[in-house]
Amino acid sequence: MLHFRSVHDVPDLPALLARAQAFKANPRQCADLGLGKTLGLVFLNPSTRTRISSQIAARHLGMEVVVFNAATEGWAMEFEDGVVMDGTRVEHIREAAPVLGQYFDILGLRSFPALQTKEEDHRESILNQFVQLSGLPLLSLESATLHPLQSLADLLTIQELRPARRPRIALSWAPHIKPLPHCVANSFAQWVTAWGEADLVIAQPEGYALDEQFTRGAHVTYDQAEALEDADFVYVKNWSATDPYGALRCTDPSWLLTPDKLARTRQARVLHCLPVRRDLELPAAVLNGPQSAVVQQAGNRVWAAQAVLEMLLRG
Ligand code: CP
Repeated sequence: MLHFRSVHDVPDLPALLARAQAFKANPRQCADLGLGKTLGLVFLNPSTRTRISSQIAARHLGMEVVVFNAATEGWAMEFEDGVVMDGTRVEHIREAAPVLGQYFDILGLRSFPALQTKEEDHRESILNQFVQLSGLPLLSLESATLHPLQSLADLLTIQELRPARRPRIALSWAPHIKPLPHCVANSFAQWVTAWGEADLVIAQPEGYALDEQFTRGAHVTYDQAEALEDADFVYVKNWSATDPYGALRCTDPSWLLTPDKLARTRQARVLHCLPVRRDLELPAAVLNGPQSAVVQQAGNRVWAAQAVLEMLLRG
């Protein structure tokens, strides 16, 4: 595997999942694989889980890790060509990315969408510029449209908790006070459908349907009750509107996954990528309850990152 930007970069998804499981059972089994190699983790946006789990995973493999909080600690970066840099941006990606390419062996990058236009975000121009200009294998730490490390950890968690039958998974939109990226939801849909071992139904309000390129193979509905019926897992997540793109169009609290609604599922386990705003996105009673799997899910971020780094190190 040369880069890790989406499920399409993964040659064998069941094998990658198996490696994540194996690292969870024995974290130090490839402790020398990354000796002498340095992972650079470049964050243009905040992170807790991705930052820490990637560092731990890399260290399990013997790698050195450098975390660069570029947005807060580095020179403000310009990404457009043909701009006279007489404003606040003092370093161009055309120098910054190849310079980082001299320092690291693998480059991790977090670069959120601007949520101004779908076309701009779907171009993934910052991620693609880092790929082209750094010359390094790229590990996406969440891009403008996708969060593949999260999705791999999500599948690992579902595999651990699944019933013997083919599971039914509901991805259920939740209210929020801010317009959030579509990355986690897009990516989750893409990975579950590529995995092929579960039925996925996605429920969202009018104006929030995700792009079909990510949801193909899932059932899409505007009826949350239909999605929750017989669900074995409920993945709760807010994302901003897609029509109009990036807007905060709905804040309807009736979309909250209440304990009453959860009681009408097949004792579904509740997933969320975190961070989660209690009693806004998910009720505290659900998060505190026995069906919540969000901490296990976040713990699995280490094993997902370790499996991906192993693949990148092996080329
Ligand atoms: N779920 C996730 O990516 O968490 P962080 O934003 O804290 O990294």
